[in-house]
Amino acid sequence: MKKALTAIALGLCFFCVAQAQDNTTDDYVWPEDQSVLQKLQDWQDLKFGVILHWGLYSVPGIVESWNLCNESWVVRPEGSTYEGYKQWYWGLAKDFNPVAFDPVQWAEVFGDAGMKYVIFTTKHHDGYCLFDSDYTDFSSAKGPAGRDYVEPVFDAFRSHGYMIGEYFSKPDWHYPGYWNPYYATPDRNFNYDRKMHPDWWESYVSYTQNQIREITGGRYGNIDILWLDGGWVSGSEIGLDSLVPEIREKNPGIIIVDRTIGGPNENYQTPERTFPARQISHPWESCIPLSDDWGWTPDHRYKSAKHVIAMLVQIVAKGGNLVVGVGPTPQGLIDDDAIAILSEVGAWLRANGDAIYGTRTTPVFNDGGSVWFTSSKDGSTTYAIYAPWDDGPAPETLSWTGNIPHGKVTMLSTGKRLRTTVSGDRVTVRLPRNLPNEPFALKYN
Ligand code: GLC
Repeated sequence: MKKALTAIALGLCFFCVAQAQDNTTDDYVWPEDQSVLQKLQDWQDLKFGVILHWGLYSVPGIVESWNLCNESWVVRPEGSTYEGYKQWYWGLAKDFNPVAFDPVQWAEVFGDAGMKYVIFTTKHHDGYCLFDSDYTDFSSAKGPAGRDYVEPVFDAFRSHGYMIGEYFSKPDWHYPGYWNPYYATPDRNFNYDRKMHPDWWESYVSYTQNQIREITGGRYGNIDILWLDGGWVSGSEIGLDSLVPEIREKNPGIIIVDRTIGGPNENYQTPERTFPARQISHPWESCIPLSDDWGWTPDHRYKSAKHVIAMLVQIVAKGGNLVVGVGPTPQGLIDDDAIAILSEVGAWLRANGDAIYGTRTTPVFNDGGSVWFTSSKDGSTTYAIYAPWDDGPAPETLSWTGNIPHGKVTMLSTGKRLRTTVSGDRVTVRLPRNLPNEPFALKYN
């Protein structure tokens, strides 16, 4: 019995963090502010972005922050003690010194991959700030590197035309107003009775608000997205409702993403490591790491370019955006394996991007197999995108029901016309011979 319960508890915990979570719901609240609606539309046109996890955990190349947490699914090295491990982890602050840091390389690599916006970890759950904060010394600015990283990263990406997003964790495991050292830290939550220690909680709230003000107050230019992670603390608990008007005054139209909380401060929904099975008409974005981890690890197993394209195509056909998670190395570069995969994705998007960027959904969005449909904004052009996951042989024909062509069907990347028959509402397209089993898009009116 006990074993079974433990197994269930483990399973549930795993589900909380490392597992795929389709947290999309139908009770999305549309923003009333026109400038937010406009920015959401602009953002939805971009379709494809990158989420960068970088911090102390990058130094040894381990899971981001979570090893600090005393939950049973967390795997720390055999023989370590919890307290000893925590001390070692906090001590990594003396080693975070990315001597080869090159944000221009980052911006170029992701730009070449066809990614149009960036979300960057200003502070993860471990509380280590990549910005120079007046409220803590636990930051890269006060460590051996002695510098703020948010500014150069956003400068580089902005000058390459990206939309700019800030990842910020509401929970902070380093701040004593959240995890107070007087008590043990049994799990991810704050570790004391708020009624007994209202002052601790207040200090945490004002610390968090002050830091959000620091990163949205103009120092880093205009911010397009504030991506608030750690949904076990809600925005309301940290006074987000009263902070938002202030944030919007400084960053007109900024998209606020109080992840998994719902209500007016979750301007888009964020399924994690997965995508919904259905088409969704309100704004959403899947976040999926390129490897199994969000940060850089030495033993990474990256997804193939074909896999990334298949995810992107399916997500766009269902009305969403995709951010792929990549971790810069401890030295401050994007590693060669990731670059190789991303540049393949970019080459595909250069040839087929019309079927992705700035598109809209069509009511028939899938043929039941590997063909996904999108449409131009004005609805005049339909794209049928073949995006296989597997390495089997390429098909000789594609056929589907609905989304009937009224004119010629061409291969988007070459403009070559393809023989097409329509019988009732069944469409069959003959494909060129000896086609490799790679993704491609068809275009028709
Ligand atoms: C989850 C994890 C966090 C990660 C994030 C990225 O919220 O807790 O570690 O940064 O997903 O999507």
